[in-house]
Amino acid sequence: MADTLTITDNRTGKTVEVPIENGAIPTKALLQLKTSDDDIGLRGYDPSFTNTAACKSRITFIDGEKGILQYRGYPIEQLAEKSNYLETAYLIVKGELPDAAHFTRWERNITMHTMVHENIKTFISGFRYDAHPMGILLGTVGALSTFYPDAHDVENLESRRLQTRRLIGKLPTIAAYAYRHSRGYPYVSPDNELSYTGNFLSMLFQMRERRYVPNPVIERALDTLFVLHGDHEQNCSANAVRAVGSSLVDPYSAVAAGIAALYGPLHGGANEAVVRMLESIGSVQNVAKSVARFKKGEERLMGFGHRVYKNFDPRGTIIKKLAYDVFEVTGKNPLIDVALELERIALQDDYFLKRKLYPNVDFYSAIIYQAMGFPMKMFPVLFAIGRTSGWLAQWAEMLRDPEQRIARPRQLYLGEMDRDYVDIAQRPAPTDREDMVSDSI
Ligand code: SDX
Repeated sequence: MADTLTITDNRTGKTVEVPIENGAIPTKALLQLKTSDDDIGLRGYDPSFTNTAACKSRITFIDGEKGILQYRGYPIEQLAEKSNYLETAYLIVKGELPDAAHFTRWERNITMHTMVHENIKTFISGFRYDAHPMGILLGTVGALSTFYPDAHDVENLESRRLQTRRLIGKLPTIAAYAYRHSRGYPYVSPDNELSYTGNFLSMLFQMRERRYVPNPVIERALDTLFVLHGDHEQNCSANAVRAVGSSLVDPYSAVAAGIAALYGPLHGGANEAVVRMLESIGSVQNVAKSVARFKKGEERLMGFGHRVYKNFDPRGTIIKKLAYDVFEVTGKNPLIDVALELERIALQDDYFLKRKLYPNVDFYSAIIYQAMGFPMKMFPVLFAIGRTSGWLAQWAEMLRDPEQRIARPRQLYLGEMDRDYVDIAQRPAPTDREDMVSDSI
């Protein structure tokens, strides 16, 4: 049997033979199927890409049915247990685990880029005190493109490497400054003697003590959460980074697009929405009543469901265990009981089972972040810190891929055609269509 697909166009009886490679067919082959010479040929139609591979990648492998997640072939369970975020970021970006000498150099290179230009502090101070930190992160990372004009040379490998180190180094600093700005606290400079995550905690929480000493359990747990958020193949924000980066814009602008996508409540903003949902449920006794509301579609069960995972999110399994390590230090977050009861009921209810809705990475991470003392608005920012290495790996892989060009999907046009202009005096009042933009200010 040949690895091909034979497609017969029943409109014309024409048959085309299409190669099957890597479990896919090149949809451009459909252009051969025409009904006349001026027919442009058939298109594939796949709104929100539910079954469309936009690229070939060697960064992250997910098996949604089996709950498998691997970065460059290494199972997430082993990386979460044995690695650390900076080493995992090296793996995601460069494709291999570093030896001791390369890790030391990588760690120093990232550490040397944790500081930000003093004007960035002024820029962040320009936001309102109650500005959402994801809005600050989005704006500030985009603004970094104006501080590093060399970043526009995206086809220069050394420049790509330098911007990668700068972004991985600076994301925690900008995130911490957004938090400090929201609290009216002075900014804390990076402490290069601390680990990547320890330094982040210091910039967040140092008050008047001479030197901040991170709690090792919290430091390890947060670092593991960064590992778990490192990359996740072609999710919404990675797709945004690739699409925007395909115009050859600088990586700060492309990563800012990823931050914007992650900001949404269906993506990285879900962890913030999970805590709001659990707090509105309030107690274990109220869970059954709330589940009834989810099943009526009155409210979405945040932290449940996934486009790819249809049994369980392996990250959720690891995070659920991590919660108890954190609670040893912080005291138990009472929302964990509400979350466990919600999971127990949902996993035995046909409505959720039929829709393959299981807890995803955001369900339990939200509870840990809250127990660590982060305000809800900071939760997606923590997600963004971990995901920066993944975004940069996806961006670089796109630029190096000879099959990739500027992203420009096609459409199926169903609108009006060939209408003649009518003077305003002769026009009827426009019909109040659903998709018309309201003309009220
Ligand atoms: C992340 O893509 C990634 O990899 C993302 C991510 C990453 O690491 O980058 O894993 C991180 O974003 C995790 C997901 C966080 N989002 C949430 O927890 C928000 C709640 N979940 C969803 O809204 C939803 O499940 C999505 C967005 C995650 C997935 O959306 P899909 O694949 O488009 O699924 P869908 O919205 O088409 O839902 C399929 C069905 C629908 O039912 P029907 O309309 O067919 O009857 O399931 C229902 C949905 O209504 N459904 C839910 C639901 N999620 C889906 N019903 C109730 N509660 C939910 N959470």
